Amino acid sequence: METEGFNSQTTFLFIPPRSQQCQPPHKSQNQFKRKTHTPSPPKPKTHSMPPEKVEVFKSLETWATNNVLPLLKPVEKCWQPQDFLPDPTLPFSDFTDQVRALRERTAGLPDDYFVVLVGDMITEDAIPTYQTMINTLDGVRDETGASSSPWAIWNRSWTAEENRHGDLLRSFLYLSGRVDMLMIEKTVQYLISAGMDPGTENNPYLGFVYTSFQERATFISHGNTARLAKEGGDPVLARICGTIASDEKRHENAYARIVEKLLEVDPTGAMMAIADLMNKKITMPAHLMYDGHDPRLFAHFAAVAQRLGVYTAHDYADILEFLVGRWGLEKLEGLTGEGRRAQEFVCGLAPRIRRLQELADQRAKKLKPPLVKFSWIFNRELSL
Ligand SMILES: [Fe+2]
Ligand SMILES: [Fe+2]
Repeated sequence: METEGFNSQTTFLFIPPRSQQCQPPHKSQNQFKRKTHTPSPPKPKTHSMPPEKVEVFKSLETWATNNVLPLLKPVEKCWQPQDFLPDPTLPFSDFTDQVRALRERTAGLPDDYFVVLVGDMITEDAIPTYQTMINTLDGVRDETGASSSPWAIWNRSWTAEENRHGDLLRSFLYLSGRVDMLMIEKTVQYLISAGMDPGTENNPYLGFVYTSFQERATFISHGNTARLAKEGGDPVLARICGTIASDEKRHENAYARIVEKLLEVDPTGAMMAIADLMNKKITMPAHLMYDGHDPRLFAHFAAVAQRLGVYTAHDYADILEFLVGRWGLEKLEGLTGEGRRAQEFVCGLAPRIRRLQELADQRAKKLKPPLVKFSWIFNRELSL
């Protein structure tokens, strides 16, 4: 039985089944010049939080100072990319020895691993977009650029912590010599120019549910690239990815704590937000990725990540299940009728996603996996 009010037709898989992954590229601009009668897409919803709820976030400022800001690490206690990279201040031959050692360690890692690592790095490098996204949220945005509100302090410091992730992975990839840096740099520029639309509607309820989900997704993904690096013979890269993963875990904890508090002070409002976002599906932050050549670059990268087990549609269901447990959604009380319907929808969703994914996996097994060229690895082909 479907839950009233939520779209029963929604497919929840963020990765398209293989059968759809290798469709011809998007139509050329000329084709779009033809007259069509397609109705224009609905206007995106904005500022969906009722204005009076801004007060909820105002009233939580002291709580945020005491419970969220302590999850940041002081700069002096943070790792920096240079801690993991060859030291350029050494005599030149010692420096090049370190670079040689780095290259020898990556020799056992295959191209598909590098494609996933590059995709992860590009996702991290679009950090300006994520800071912007959080600053679209009503009631928690940084009003001046250096506001002393705890929400603004969190956003700036979180951004500063995250900024190291892309920097470190980028420098590592550059030194590895295994990837086409020019194509990677173009992809980053395209991606930051394109932005993202996670459907959070300037609404911090939706925004913090989204970030809770995403931080856990990145924790899983970096954790798996760490594991594969170790198995592939590169303990330093394993430590790099593992260290980034542990930052993501701390960030996940902060965002999940905020949603937990919202569930306490406004259970129906928070429950409805979780259901709304899950009904829309969680879009991945780099979903608008493009390198100037492959219009389906994100789907192709995601398919390789799925095949390697770095981030899969099963992880999507696992994250949802984890958050349902973390937030105690099954036992949440004090909900209105609408809130209870949202609760029923969210709590029943993970098994449905798994069933759909199993069907998609079975269908995919019957198809020959397509070969796709990745510009990031000098147009070498990979099977999806
Ligand atoms: Fe990150
Ligand atoms: Fe993160």
